[in-house]
Amino acid sequence: MTEAYVYYQGKIVKEDDVKVSVRSKAFNYGLGVFEGIRAYWDDEKQQLYAFKLKEHYNRLKESAKTVNMDFDFSIDDLIQGTIDLLKANNCRTTTYLRPIVYNDALDIGPTLDGKDVKVVIYTQPLNKYAGKSELSVGVTSWRRISNNQLPPRTKATAAYLNSALAALETKRAGFDEAIFLTDGDHVCEGSGENIFIFRKGKLVTPPPADNILEGITRDLVMKLAEEELGIEVEERSISRSELYVADEVFFSGTAMEVTPIVAVDHRQIGTGHEGEVCKQIKELFFNLTIGKNPKYAESCTPVYDK
Ligand SMILES: Cc1ncc(COP(=O)(O)O)c(C=O)c1O
Repeated sequence: MTEAYVYYQGKIVKEDDVKVSVRSKAFNYGLGVFEGIRAYWDDEKQQLYAFKLKEHYNRLKESAKTVNMDFDFSIDDLIQGTIDLLKANNCRTTTYLRPIVYNDALDIGPTLDGKDVKVVIYTQPLNKYAGKSELSVGVTSWRRISNNQLPPRTKATAAYLNSALAALETKRAGFDEAIFLTDGDHVCEGSGENIFIFRKGKLVTPPPADNILEGITRDLVMKLAEEELGIEVEERSISRSELYVADEVFFSGTAMEVTPIVAVDHRQIGTGHEGEVCKQIKELFFNLTIGKNPKYAESCTPVYDK
């Protein structure tokens, strides 16, 4: 579904007025970086809360810097633009925001010379991404891109061909999602989410050195486990077989939120249903996304004036 307005180059304009040429380097070579942000609708308060805007726009700036696509708009400009856009589209349901920074030059060749950089943001209603509350996942034969190929810390559009190949393979094999291993055979992440295991009383997640995207939800999950549940969190490499013997496995991500994995490569995880740790983290997470936990209130930007 398309919305009426987008943010484009600092202004709110009609979506149909923004054109991307078939010659654009963004289209030809995937030269762009992007974000995925959620805004959560609270029916009770009739309010929309844009979630973790500062963190997402900071990561967008970092991604753009890495690929030499620096742009002029500040984080504050983008936050204001996001609020204006959500209002312009009168978004009154949980909504996904997609900011993209792209190279719009039209000449031939995959060049990153910092010219013709454009910034656009669109909105899309999005309730549940997975379409299922418990997932069966498979390890893909495709390896995750590494830091010296296409830095996974950078949320680059071209990198999602790697994700799409993994998702295609595992979905064709009957799984709901893919888990990547690194070139060094360590568990990495899903096609668009970070991964956690709960084993021997600790919550464990792969470190950035294992070629993950440094997920904003991942950061929050680690904080919630440590500070709210008193669970020790370890960032360390995980091997494939450790997934099979974990008490719990779950994904975290803006689109995927916190979603339990109940089978990996046809091995049942724990009881075969959502585990207690995932359940508690999920409850804390959904409560705070709509501004109900004062400790995390600054993560939520209210869109509508009251
Ligand atoms: C490859 C990949 N890993 C992890 C994540 C989760 O990151 P975040 O929690 O910041 O959405 C995403 C989604 O942005 C992703 O695309």
